[in-house]
Amino acid sequence: MKIGTPKETAEGEARVAMTPQSAKDLQKLGYDCLVESGAGLAAGFDDAAYTEAGVEVVSGEALWSDADIVAKVRPPSDAEAGTLSEGQTLISFFYPAANEPLMNIAKDQKANVIAMDMVPRISRAQKMDALSSMANIAGYRSVIEAGNNFGRFFTGQVTAAGKVPPAKVLVVGAGVAGLAAIGTATSLGAITLAFDVRPEVAEQIESMGAEFVFLEFDEEQTDGAATGGYAAPSSPEFRDAQLAKFRELAPEVDIVITTALIPNRDAPVLWTKDMVEAMKPGSVIVDLAAERGGNCELTVADEKIATENGVTIVGYTDFPSRMATQSSLLYSTNIRHMMTDLTPEKDGQVVHDMEDDVIRGATVTYAGEITYPPPPPKVQAIAAQPAKPAPKELTPDEKRAQEVAAFRKQTTNQVGLLAIGGGLILAVGLVAPASFMQHFIVFVLSVFVGFQVIWNVSHSLHTPLMAVTNAISSIIILGALMQVGSNSVIIMILAALGILMASVNIFGGFLVTRRMLAMFQKS
Ligand code: NAI
Repeated sequence: MKIGTPKETAEGEARVAMTPQSAKDLQKLGYDCLVESGAGLAAGFDDAAYTEAGVEVVSGEALWSDADIVAKVRPPSDAEAGTLSEGQTLISFFYPAANEPLMNIAKDQKANVIAMDMVPRISRAQKMDALSSMANIAGYRSVIEAGNNFGRFFTGQVTAAGKVPPAKVLVVGAGVAGLAAIGTATSLGAITLAFDVRPEVAEQIESMGAEFVFLEFDEEQTDGAATGGYAAPSSPEFRDAQLAKFRELAPEVDIVITTALIPNRDAPVLWTKDMVEAMKPGSVIVDLAAERGGNCELTVADEKIATENGVTIVGYTDFPSRMATQSSLLYSTNIRHMMTDLTPEKDGQVVHDMEDDVIRGATVTYAGEITYPPPPPKVQAIAAQPAKPAPKELTPDEKRAQEVAAFRKQTTNQVGLLAIGGGLILAVGLVAPASFMQHFIVFVLSVFVGFQVIWNVSHSLHTPLMAVTNAISSIIILGALMQVGSNSVIIMILAALGILMASVNIFGGFLVTRRMLAMFQKS
């Protein structure tokens, strides 16, 4: 079958759904690849790069008519959807809830549409989760965009010309985009604060080096609890507490990045006009939720504005397209993984398995029917494990009997092992010279003692333990020092080598331990 990618027709869209690299991978799945001439240009991939990767470069018309599968980024225009043919598969963002007329056109054309924005958020589908990969880029880019509009460093510096304080960044909403923004801001050296209604993300926020903004609010009353990784709307009391906290923070922070969103709703307004007015001149707000009305009251979608008090508010809705090369690389990989799922035999033939959770979840029209909304994925039911029965309480007598039985078993094992070991040593002693036996017995005993020392140490302590026990090799140095003055050149060389290796072990052990301890120390 042929898979093809047209040039995006939406204004300003620079991404492309197939890259030369993803085309190579698609060919390994057995597909012939087509691309519309110039489709990848804005993302940095020219026609020659596609030709080199074995892709046939064709006209837009030929692409829509020849490709059995059309992979693109944005939802098709009505005209594009009108050219879909029976049995043709379209894979793209589709936003079916907001695009009913488009869905009807696809249904009437009897085309099978897979919406990349409908891929269920289950672990197996993460590699196809284009919403996450795009949100990740948007989060990163939001910080870069903020930096571009901010007149100072992110990181604090002490220079000959004076001391520079670090920038203070507040990230509101710690979903995919928010976490990416936190990671980028902290890595640039800013003091980063973050807030989310889902308290379970506090740990993730802190592990990324940011500070979670806690609200003094009785958690029982909040309905900001998680629902499948998404948030539910907050109660008015919670919202008031949240806004009061933000009002307190507004004069301190230099950059605010808002990413708060509740699925299928307009974005909640969390950064009000008075907060913008309370900010210092030169501060920047980047509102990632601009497309859904914005988290900031003053945001204008698709525009960058400056307020009277000198605050810049960025409301662009095309952050992934502003990093088209990176976005195309990730998006085309998401598509390639989707195609892998659709091609179980790797023979270039699509098997549209409506029993497969991911394919079913993402399919919005199939064989002349609208199949949106999908049923909830089966995986959830499988994942919800039945509660284990509580362990039975034992009486003191039963407990004792169990302990005695365990001790007996252990003793029998040990005696058995000793008997086998003793037997083996006797057998060796029958043939080996006495001088060898002396060393051999010491060797066997030291292996036994070493084993007993290390065996019961918990796994998490293994590496630090190893680092320190390496220092035990100092004993080897003693032995080697006693031998290094020997008359035999071979013994001398061996002893010198022993000293060298053992020293490396000792100093290495201490260095590793120091580095590991430093990992747990706050700088
Ligand atoms: P997500 O659903 O993973 O994260 C949203 C987060 O906001 C969740 O953690 C949720 O708990 C939190 N949240 C909800 N209500 C809140 C409240 N009242 N206060 C604080 N936190 C709250 O969404 P994702 O994928 O991270 O996307 C974030 C935003 O970025 C969305 O608005 C999305 O449309 C937008 N986006 C914008 C792009 C652009 O170019 N401007 C590109 C990609 C995404």
